[in-house]
Amino acid sequence: MSTAAASDSPAQSGPVSAPTAPIRFGMIGAGFIARWFVEAARTVPDAEVVAVTSAHPERAAAFAAEHAIPAAFASLEEMLAARDADGGPLVDVVYVGSPNLLHPEHALAALEAGRHVLVEKPFAPTPAQAQAMVAAARRNDRLLMEGWLPAFEPGTAVLRENLQRLGPIRRALLVKEQYSSRMDAYRGGALPPAFNPAMAGGSLMDLGVYPISLAIHLFGAPTRVTAAGVLLDSGADALGTVVLDYAGTDTARQVQPAGFEVVCLHSKTSPAGTGSAIAGDHAVLTLDDCQWPQQIALRGPAVGTADAVQDLSVQRSGPVLAYELEAFCRLVRSGARESELHPLANSVAAVEVLYEARRQVGVRFPGDPD
Ligand SMILES: NC(=O)c1ccc[n+]([C@@H]2O[C@H](COP(=O)([O-])OP(=O)(O)OC[C@H]3O[C@@H](n4cnc5c(N)ncnc54)[C@H](OP(=O)(O)O)[C@@H]3O)[C@@H](O)[C@H]2O)c1
Repeated sequence: MSTAAASDSPAQSGPVSAPTAPIRFGMIGAGFIARWFVEAARTVPDAEVVAVTSAHPERAAAFAAEHAIPAAFASLEEMLAARDADGGPLVDVVYVGSPNLLHPEHALAALEAGRHVLVEKPFAPTPAQAQAMVAAARRNDRLLMEGWLPAFEPGTAVLRENLQRLGPIRRALLVKEQYSSRMDAYRGGALPPAFNPAMAGGSLMDLGVYPISLAIHLFGAPTRVTAAGVLLDSGADALGTVVLDYAGTDTARQVQPAGFEVVCLHSKTSPAGTGSAIAGDHAVLTLDDCQWPQQIALRGPAVGTADAVQDLSVQRSGPVLAYELEAFCRLVRSGARESELHPLANSVAAVEVLYEARRQVGVRFPGDPD
């Protein structure tokens, strides 16, 4: 068993200069993921949450009081304008934990104000918005990263390290299913952002992003996307399948030119039950979960005999977002402008796949170009 976290090479290849004070985060959002973020920040010495804002000022204030965050603001504009005791900006980094539809607006405002940005998955609803975010980060010379936590999980490092042992990849099944904590509320008549197309919610955006981004992380951008799905009466999708075809263009990763197929299953209406597998000529790599793989095994001739199994399981530790937050802080300290482990091109590629899948399934969001 290993407990090592995945690395992001530019930030971890050498010592990072000792910080004089922690990196100061201002959060947008006081909801579900915001709690995970403050839990992680408590365990990452180089991160300090100094401010929060959300849609309702009283909720931001209550969240700040509950989590001992020094400042709560009624708007992002106020948070960006706030100064510290020395007259400098109060926050160094804006963490965007608002509903999916608002990621571009919030990330762009923070980047244009000169802040680094860690934006929750999914990066953006449309490719044009994703590209505008990348352009703003480059124009303002700021670090921008999508908070797609699997990139920094120790289990994902095991997948990367063992991929070559499979031989030519032939097929992968990547699954993310989870009965939504908001499904009962939705069935009771509420419309939480997670099931509201007006907030860019739904299964593809919230869960489909995990297998899709894992495929891109391991194999690069696909050459063709074919999607099917089941819609709720809200117009958001409840579950679906996305097939990613690879025509063998990714020779840098030594994937066979013969091409292969990745089948991505996602659902917000059923609990996890189906594992994932990546199959090659010489072995199959199985994993329990696309978001935080822990039970991992390699089976087949590459291990020894035809029916041999090598246990590659890992034990993750700490709060859910801690590996990602640690990696992000190292990037800030190193002066990087994007993560090598989870580059912006991968975030944009995932948005392109999600957008095409939505188009085929019939899920439309405000701001969609067609
Ligand atoms: N990485 C992960 O594992 C993970 C897990 C869950 C969610 N997420 C992502 O995190 C994001 C938020 O999801 P969630 O489940 O936390 O949603 P949530 O519980 O509905 O919380 C959303 C928060 O956004 C705030 N908000 C809404 N409109 C806003 C605006 N115009 N300006 C500022 N704040 C605004 C809300 O404010 P009020 O509280 O004042 O209404 C609320 O605090 C989504 O993008 C989701 O995909 C990631």
